[in-house]
Amino acid sequence: MLTLAIESSCDETSVAVLRNGREVLGQLISSQIKDHAVFGGVVPEIASRKHLEVINHLLEAGLREAGVRAEDLDLIAVTRGPGLVGALLVGISAAKAISYVRDIPIVGVNHMEGHVCANYLAHPELEPPFLSLVVSGGHTYLCVVKDYAHYEVVGSTVDDAAGESFDKISRVLGFGYPGGPKIQKAAEEGNPQAFSFPRAMMAKEDGYTFSFSGLKTAVINEAHHYEQMGKPLPMADMAASFQQAVVDVLTEKASRLMDAMPQMKRFCLSGGVAANKPLQQALKAACTKRGVQFFVPPAILCTDNAAMIGCAGYYQYQERGASSLDFAADPDLGL
Ligand code: KG4
Ligand code: ZN
Repeated sequence: MLTLAIESSCDETSVAVLRNGREVLGQLISSQIKDHAVFGGVVPEIASRKHLEVINHLLEAGLREAGVRAEDLDLIAVTRGPGLVGALLVGISAAKAISYVRDIPIVGVNHMEGHVCANYLAHPELEPPFLSLVVSGGHTYLCVVKDYAHYEVVGSTVDDAAGESFDKISRVLGFGYPGGPKIQKAAEEGNPQAFSFPRAMMAKEDGYTFSFSGLKTAVINEAHHYEQMGKPLPMADMAASFQQAVVDVLTEKASRLMDAMPQMKRFCLSGGVAANKPLQQALKAACTKRGVQFFVPPAILCTDNAAMIGCAGYYQYQERGASSLDFAADPDLGL
């Protein structure tokens, strides 16, 4: 079964072709990072226009890359949310056009389910059930993946997402967009214990709920403090201490879930923030301590890509069949 997958929810336009849901025959990712970096974050209107500029070319090039003709396709999978509505609509419109003209079934896919499925692409032996932490620029979910198409969210954030906090702090410290990789790099030269930034909602009764906005405020206040004293910001120490606070919170809540569900012997990390090496190391150590197998995709499958959407779409199609052609973009779609 050949699936053509399209992703355009934020600032990456991506096209992939998969065989039987898990084998990537070809994938292309066109990043808009340089178009948004000058503004310090993603500008939705620019994102939509850039998707529109590249989508047709990328579709042709993606099929060529995979060595597949459009008439050979069996399924079209496209991100329907969450994301920027104008950006989503570009991918959805292209996908619907191909589906309609060629009479190929289409599935509208949840982007966050796609992130979870990135692990299936990287680890052919991986099967549900497992526990999962999905950390992206817009969302933070701790969940139980019961089956290929059944997810139970046990915790999410009440304010900023983990990736969002990296991006905002990066802007404050002057590293620019996207924040995650830049903070990680700067942190390599810093002391993670230099500042004791807050770890929010760590009480037992806070369960699996996350909050990162207090941490963000604490880092901003510290930066102002240095500015008022006319002293240069200890950038590396601030980056390292901030990153450590995020890693500590994510690892603690993930560990709580592992302790609460000891029968689950697999844990999968995914989403853009999953590319963070200190986070990977801390979670892996927490898993190893508990005899739980740890999975994370390579960095290229952590950040946004169409292959993960194709994989999620394939399993969704097996479980629930095709979407009707009039499905809408859903910017706020939950996991
Ligand atoms: O999943 P993703 O590509 O897009 C969304 O669905 O949002 O995630 C992007 C997020 C951004 O916030 C970015 O700063 C963060 O992932 N990120 C990282 C790293 N690489 C990307 N955060 C921490 N460390 C990284 N190495
Ligand atoms: Zn994403």
